[in-house]
Parts: sequence; C-alpha cells; structure tokens
Amino acid sequence: MVMIEDITATEILDSRGNPTIEVTVMLNSGATGRASVPSGASTGAYEACELRDNDAKRYGGKGVLKAVGNVNDIIRKKLIGFPATEQLLIDNELINLDGTKDKSYLGANAILGVSIATAKAAANSLKLPLFKYLGGISGCTIPTPMMNIMNGGKHALGGVDFQEFMIVPGGANSFNDSLRWGSEVYQALKSLLHKKGLATTVGDEGGFAPSLKSHKEVIELILQAIDLAGFKAGTDIALALDPASTEFYIDDKYRLECENLSLTSDQMIEYYEKLVAKYPIISIEDGLSEDDWSGWERLTKQLGSKIQLVGDDLFVTNVERINRGITTKVANAVLIKPNQIGSLSETMNAINLSHCNGYKTVVSHRSGETDDSTIADLAVAINNGQIKTGAPCRQERNSKYNQLLRIEKDLMIQAKFMGFGNFAAYQANRLITAKA
Ligand code: PGA
Ligand code: ZN
Repeated sequence: MVMIEDITATEILDSRGNPTIEVTVMLNSGATGRASVPSGASTGAYEACELRDNDAKRYGGKGVLKAVGNVNDIIRKKLIGFPATEQLLIDNELINLDGTKDKSYLGANAILGVSIATAKAAANSLKLPLFKYLGGISGCTIPTPMMNIMNGGKHALGGVDFQEFMIVPGGANSFNDSLRWGSEVYQALKSLLHKKGLATTVGDEGGFAPSLKSHKEVIELILQAIDLAGFKAGTDIALALDPASTEFYIDDKYRLECENLSLTSDQMIEYYEKLVAKYPIISIEDGLSEDDWSGWERLTKQLGSKIQLVGDDLFVTNVERINRGITTKVANAVLIKPNQIGSLSETMNAINLSHCNGYKTVVSHRSGETDDSTIADLAVAINNGQIKTGAPCRQERNSKYNQLLRIEKDLMIQAKFMGFGNFAAYQANRLITAKA
C-alpha cells in the first residue's frame, strides 16, 4: 500500500498576480503529486471559504500563509501514514479535521490543494495518467470546449455587463479540430476588432474586452468573426453566455448599465428569450441571480426545453443546492468548480448527483488560474463532455486545452469527441434545424 510520507505547501502567484496555495504530497513509493488552487472574482456567496490572511501589509490582505500553515502543520500531522489511494477516506478526514460547514477553519483552498495533490501522487505511484486514475477504463470523452472570447463584467472592468461570451465549436469531429476552429475564430475576431479601431487587450480569461454599448453588438462581432474564419454559426460553431447575473442584481433588479436597463426577473427572462430566438445560443449560465430561485423556475419553464441552463453561483458545486434545484426543477446543468466545494470527492458527488438526475455538467476553470491542468483530466474521467477554460490564449488557459490535446492523442481510437452531441438532444435538434 502506498502511504503519504510528507506534505508541504507554499504560497505562489496566480494568473492575476494574487497569491494562492500550491501543495506537494510525497508517498513512500517515491511518487509525488503537486496541485495549485485557482480563485474566482465573481464568486458565489455560497462557495466554500477561500482562506486569506487579511494582513493588509502583505499582498493587500490576499496572502494565503494561514492556509499554507494549516497544510504544513495540522493537515500534515494528521495525514502522514494514510493510504494515498483511499481518496474518500482522506477527503473525509480533511472535512472532519476542519469541522465547519464552509471549510473556514482550515480553508477550502488548503483542503482542495491536499485533496488533488494526493490524487495526483497516487496516480503517479500507479504510473497512471490522472484521467485514467480518476475515470478508470470508462473515462474517454474529450470535452467540447466552451471558449470565452469576449470578456465583460468583473473580468474586464469598463466592458459590457455580461461576463462571458463563449464560442462552442461543436461541429468538429475531434477535440483537436474543435480547438483549432476556436483559435481561428479568436484570431479572426482580433483582426476584426483591430480593423474597427477597437481595443484588443484581453480580460482575465483571455477574451477581448473592447468598450461596447450593448450585448448584441458583442454577439454580432463574434458572428462576423466566425464568418470571417470560414465557419458557419449555428452548425459549426454555437454560442454560449455566462452573464454571471448575480453581479448586476441589485435591489431585486437586473441592472444592465451598458444598455441603461433595469429589469425585473421576468423582463430579464424576456431579454434572454429574444437573444435565443435571434442567435444560435445553446447555453446560458447564471442567467439569473444565485438567490432568485422563483425567477429561475420561470426561466427554466420558458427556456429549459430549448437550451442548456447552467447554475454556477446558483449551485456552487454543492449537493444541497443542486438537490434544491432538482426538486424545484431549476436549471438543467451544473457548473463544476472543485474549489467551490473544496475536495475532490465532494466534486465527484456533485457530478454524480447531477448526472443521475439528468442534469448536464460543465467542468470549469476560475478567472484566477494557475498552470495546473487537473480539470482537463477530470472532465475526461467523468465523460461529461463539456469544459470551459477561457479563450485559447494565455498559458494558464491553454495548459488545460493542451492537456486535452495530449490526452486525445494518447487515447488514440479510444478517444470520443461528441461535439454538440454532449449537449442535450433538444439542443442538437435545434442545431440541426438551424442547419436545414
Ligand atoms: P470566476 O468566474 O472564476 O471569477 O468566479 C467564472 C464564472 O463565473 O464562471
Ligand atoms: Zn459563471
């Protein structure tokens, strides 16, 4: 049996230049595993606690030395000698050691770092790639990328209100082609913006963030770029949105500053209905706020049979909130961010609960990322078929896409790529209709 021999943590920097935690787990077999933890900007109120030092003298209070100390001291002492392949046992031990509901004692960042580093060490010890260790012989679907090529909201201050405008190159026959199509559209968009005298500087997730006056304007530019790159919108490449609407839900109104609108839930739903009727949109994430459950019920009734409705801040990868969604028929897909819940086993539980109840899942990065590509392996392992990890630009985003290229190559004929087929059948129908 391979045992944990040592655990160390250090403070490193993420893609935004903020500190985060990196954990290394060493086993008695000589194998090691290293993991670093990402960080959100438009974080949901119900996420597990990201422990920061709040010491204004270091990194503007964002240091993570407390979380690092918790790993190097409390967690290390507890876990040395534990069998590294018993992931559930280890995660449960961490959860019990923490003892709080939101992991605020040890920090969800500390716990997740140890949880993932342990899985990686165990995989290395068994000489298995991480996706194989996590998914066994069944994990072989390379996810369809959802690439955020225009950034707004909290990821690009001064931009439009919606946070993410994604392209989904689901008409391709392989991940390799899908990524290339996305990248070609991204480059076409760059030259288009440049030609129009618009800024080509990028936001936190690598998408462009020019100053524009409406969401439709952003969508029209993306459609032009798809055309310019030689693809057909709606058949080759579809669109997906993450408005991250909790951020602009103020005093019970959705406030779209760039369009000078202040909308009720029902008016916001109507706004989406019009967009969906006009454009080849197949997925909307966090269309309504994390607390607007009754609005979500109506949104799902109105649009749930046409497109994918993803809960991010709404569900926070948390089985209690996902269960509430299932029982109240809210949304039809769940965004999966391991650091929202704080351990690998709990992430897997959230995925299983979603899939068992007919909900799709989308494995996701955070806006503050590192070069850690665990989510790429996770998506292949669970066969969920959808990943969002930013624009095909900036290495902290591309490290995930590149890992998927490697996995697809290694799996050879065993690799499955389902393109739009990973989206619910009704969405495929919608796209086929668009094709006719
Ligand atoms: P975040 O944004 O990582 O800043 O929370 C990503 C998202 O909302 O999906
Ligand atoms: Zn989101």
